[in-house]
Amino acid sequence: MIQILKIQGGNRLNGTINCPSAKNAILPIIAGAVMTDGDVRIRGCSLLTDTDAMIKILRALGASAEWEEDSVIINCSGLKTDAITSDLTGKIRSSVFILGPLVAKHKRAVMSYPGGCEIGLRPIDLHLYGLRQLGVKISEQNGFIVCDGTLMRSGEVNFDFPSVGATENVMMAASLLGGQTVIRNAAREPEIVDLAQFINAMGGSVAGAGTDTIIVNGVKKLHGCDYQPLSDRIVGGTYLMACAVTGGDITVQNLKPETMRAVIEKLARCGCTVTHGKNFVRVRSSGKIKAIHKIETQPFPGFPTDLQPQIVAMLTKANGCSMMVENLFESRYKYTTQLNKMGARITVKDRVAVIKGVKTLKGAPLIAEDLRGGAALVVGALGAEGESTISGVENIDRGYYHIEKDFSALGAYINRIIL
Ligand code: UD1
Repeated sequence: MIQILKIQGGNRLNGTINCPSAKNAILPIIAGAVMTDGDVRIRGCSLLTDTDAMIKILRALGASAEWEEDSVIINCSGLKTDAITSDLTGKIRSSVFILGPLVAKHKRAVMSYPGGCEIGLRPIDLHLYGLRQLGVKISEQNGFIVCDGTLMRSGEVNFDFPSVGATENVMMAASLLGGQTVIRNAAREPEIVDLAQFINAMGGSVAGAGTDTIIVNGVKKLHGCDYQPLSDRIVGGTYLMACAVTGGDITVQNLKPETMRAVIEKLARCGCTVTHGKNFVRVRSSGKIKAIHKIETQPFPGFPTDLQPQIVAMLTKANGCSMMVENLFESRYKYTTQLNKMGARITVKDRVAVIKGVKTLKGAPLIAEDLRGGAALVVGALGAEGESTISGVENIDRGYYHIEKDFSALGAYINRIIL
């Protein structure tokens, strides 16, 4: 079955839309459910393919996972194995999150190297370093990572770089160890704060999340909980950028402005009027975008790499020249070739993209090669004249639940065609 998105660009976006729970908050939380024998109910989940892949991994380990509307209820009391096979880990990089919780709870975890989007090397050395600091013995056997947790204990973890995933893995693993673990140079992303709240809702003790030093006081046992993860600042940001480029007036509800200050600041700099309240962000745009001299992606609270492609798509129609510096991932510009097919003028050298604004983009047949790059093509196509088709939709579906429904609700002409 082949799926494509068909987009007739040029419509202004108007209306209100609700932001779902964040994929990047949900994935570590699903992995964290391994740490308790109780029921973990996660609310506000859309059935993204990444979420589904993570749930399949838990089911393959012997967990149960049932859907009740937009909640998934996971129970990991009956795990039968501690080994995750390569066909499952190959689909999703976040499978690496399971290592920490699994080795902490069952004292052993085996998995093959994780997959995910092709946006760079994405090694897992920091994850393994963090676990080793907690006493895990790690070896490689026949392409599998074998973690032996029989001598696990709390410890000190000083990261060279504030990796989001590695911080999360260590936070979870440390939660079930006796004593205190200190994580320094920890990632400060909102999803880290959310994971800490989730662990605490299970009876754990994590303090300092959101700062660069996290303190985990291990507990003997964690219990089940009912949890609503944080809203998706990347999905919300994608809608706002689409509105900026098409012109219009949209409000994204259930979106926390404090999780996206750098994004709001850039939208305002482009000439949009941005207002926000406790739980919403509104953008009004004439469709005329001002160029931004330079944007650099950075760990939170800097500009997020996961919105880099979408803002570049927006800047293709700016009145001047903008520059993007991608500091997190080394191959995150593949999508620019596709935008150039629409008449954009983007040149890329290493980690820098120079975007010369053009008056109009023209619809074209496009291929989404990765998740956020695919979302950028949707943003570009919505702002273009004429029809675009986007194949490789399965890459977009990893992080956006029926993206065509949300944009249609805002007045865009966008359909999913199943061939
Ligand atoms: C998470 C997000 C992803 C986002 C990224 C950066 C999830 C599920 N995914 O990914 O959407 O783009 O944060 O905000 O939350 N690195 C190493 N060694 C490691 C781990 C990471 O060198 O062991 C490097 C990576 O190659 C990359 C940088 O550190 O260059 C950032 O990666 P990291 O913060 O770990 O991102 P992820 O957790 O993979």
